[in-house]
Amino acid sequence: MLNVEELETGYGKKQVLFGINLEAVEGKITAIIGPNGSGKSTALKSIFGLIPVWNGNVIYNGEPIANRGTRANVNDGIGFVPQGNRVFDEMTVLENLEIGGLHLRRDRFKEELKKMWGLFPELEKRKKQNAGKLSGGEKQMLALSRALIMTPKMLLMDEPSLGLSPKLVTFMMGHIRKINHEFGATVLIVEQKVREVLDLCDRVYSIKLGKVAFEGSPEELQKDKGKLKHLFL
Ligand SMILES: Nc1ncnc2c1ncn2[C@@H]1O[C@H](COP(=O)(O)OP(=O)(O)O)[C@@H](O)[C@H]1O
Ligand SMILES: [Mg+2]
Repeated sequence: MLNVEELETGYGKKQVLFGINLEAVEGKITAIIGPNGSGKSTALKSIFGLIPVWNGNVIYNGEPIANRGTRANVNDGIGFVPQGNRVFDEMTVLENLEIGGLHLRRDRFKEELKKMWGLFPELEKRKKQNAGKLSGGEKQMLALSRALIMTPKMLLMDEPSLGLSPKLVTFMMGHIRKINHEFGATVLIVEQKVREVLDLCDRVYSIKLGKVAFEGSPEELQKDKGKLKHLFL
């Protein structure tokens, strides 16, 4: 569904990614792990079009999409949940979701909104509250719902468990599985909670110093703790 080929990018003159190849297979959950600063967020941002691709290709459903812009990507069924559960603090929960669904017809929006309330009942209870008042976990639910409301076929997620308690990490992972199974979204997820994401994903890539250092099944890394440790050194 999504193929990244020899992707190179960075910031200003600083190159961060040096020829990344990865594939997110339709219907599956693909994970990207790796140490802090290795380029995981940079990879997602350049795939989604938030920063330019310098070299290489991003192919989505057979079409090259590198550098075509985020709006075209969203309209084409790609959703992005940035790192750090970013929401509009000064707006209510409902207003945040309205921004996510800005381009939906009103009846369609209402339908999708109902699905979001079903997925995260906590959000419905707080729909009139300012998002700034939400807990970290609820903000993450809202950030995720804001992307989901457009019913993405391909969901890019950057550390959805960041800053969450162990209980909420489990909750969030369960919901990502549900989004994959029941909403039929193909998932590409960046995570630092390695044990949890290996339980969740079908395939895993590890990025180290801007290159893919490992590609394989999660079972392989679960069995070989030495290999896993090496990827984080
Ligand atoms: N906006 C930015 N401007 C300049 N350098 C950045 C920016 N964002 C990230 N970097 C640098 O790019 C490298 C990779 O960062 P990032 O992709 O955020 O890593 P990860 O998500 O794997 O922790 C780091 O060296 C980081 O300092
Ligand atoms: Mg990151």
